[in-house]
Amino acid sequence: MGFRFEIPTDIPEISKLVETAFLDLEISQNNEHRILDALRDANALSLSMIYEENGEILGHVALSPVKISSGDGSCFGLGPIAVKREERHRGIGSALVIRCLEMLRTSNASACFLVGNPDFYSHHGFVADSRYTLPGVPPEFFMVHTFRDDLPAGEVSFHPAFFVE
Ligand SMILES: CC(C)(COP(=O)(O)OP(=O)(O)OC[C@H]1O[C@@H](n2cnc3c(N)ncnc32)[C@H](O)[C@@H]1OP(=O)(O)O)[C@@H](O)C(=O)NCCC(=O)NCCS
Repeated sequence: MGFRFEIPTDIPEISKLVETAFLDLEISQNNEHRILDALRDANALSLSMIYEENGEILGHVALSPVKISSGDGSCFGLGPIAVKREERHRGIGSALVIRCLEMLRTSNASACFLVGNPDFYSHHGFVADSRYTLPGVPPEFFMVHTFRDDLPAGEVSFHPAFFVE
């Protein structure tokens, strides 16, 4: 019970949770579970954490490396993140985000980027910052949480796994 890292036997349940969580989301291409598979295959899943209760996985979050054109080597992307529909608004999503940020901070990461709803992520120190851009994404939905003040501006690219069909 609680938060822990993914183990191999979790993978089918995580995949189902993530696929189902995004089903009714208009902006989703419903490929998030395949993105996770592609990140795993590429050895680019920097973190895969679950929240479980009574042996059931209720929430999941992933981190993967992102590149920034300024060349800083320690930036990460948060997502996908998903909580089982019936278990939302209990703070599970927030707790997963907070744990990711704690881990990145203690591992001396420079920044964490994501594409998401500002209503949710602004509670966790994410801001839309015009110094950082992600081509094709409206600036208000491209958000960053920086761990240092002097991160050079640049264009950000997520891992190629995010472009899986
Ligand atoms: C996004 C998602 C992971 C959130 O999970 P959750 O467990 O419901 O999240 P929480 O319970 O921590 O937060 C839910 C609510 O609390 C609000 N909240 C979170 N932290 C807060 C804080 N510190 N202070 C005040 N409000 C807060 C959020 O804005 C949200 O409000 P809303 O639902 O009215 O918009 C979940 O809704 C989900 O799986 N959605 C489908 C997949 C998805 O959209 N993933 C994210 C893509 S960007």
